[in-house]
Amino acid sequence: MSGPLIVGIGGTPRSGSSTERALILALRHAQGAGARTKLFGGEFLEKLPHFNPGPAGPSAEQAELAQAVREADGIILATPGYHGSLSGVVKNALDTLELTRADPRPYFDGKPVGIIITADGAQAGGTTLMAVRGIIHAMRGWPTPYGAALNAAGLFDEAGECRDAKNVAQLKTVAEQVMEFANMRAAT
Ligand SMILES: Cc1cc2nc3c(=O)[nH]c(=O)nc-3n(C[C@H](O)[C@H](O)[C@H](O)COP(=O)(O)O)c2cc1C
Repeated sequence: MSGPLIVGIGGTPRSGSSTERALILALRHAQGAGARTKLFGGEFLEKLPHFNPGPAGPSAEQAELAQAVREADGIILATPGYHGSLSGVVKNALDTLELTRADPRPYFDGKPVGIIITADGAQAGGTTLMAVRGIIHAMRGWPTPYGAALNAAGLFDEAGECRDAKNVAQLKTVAEQVMEFANMRAAT
């Protein structure tokens, strides 16, 4: 298999999570542009123990997530806005990447990171996007210039289709920018 590996991390553990659906749509766009993809959705993230920086070794799920990020050429993160910032489940997944701290390329070092936010209101969409960008900088990643902040209410219809072409275009832009950066890195 060739093509950049793009790892999707996000969603909520809620069945039918709109955040996870949006992430899957972005990953599909990346696949259309030649990527291999791997998804860590809400159900997986819920199984991660709270990250403990003590000496105990990682759980199988924690190790799997860290290894996928090590191998990734790009990341797409998707979180709901909860009380004006990212959800605890997604933050815990990011904290888990402390497992890569001693790597030659720790955390998101040198990797593009696309961001998708869902929220019921514009205010949480904006504050959460800025919070996640700050975290990615702290983790040595390259947030893509464009971040998709989407209104969660009615984002997908009963059949799981995204209702609004503008939202589809936003998710496509995030995927395209992650792919553009990943391909540039591969060419250097
Ligand atoms: C604990 C909690 C806190 C929330 N806080 C906010 C908020 O501050 N602002 C907002 O616009 N929406 C808020 N929401 C709505 C969520 O952003 C919305 O339910 C979410 O994007 C839906 O994601 P899902 O379909 O993937 O579960 C909150 C929801 C929950 C459960």
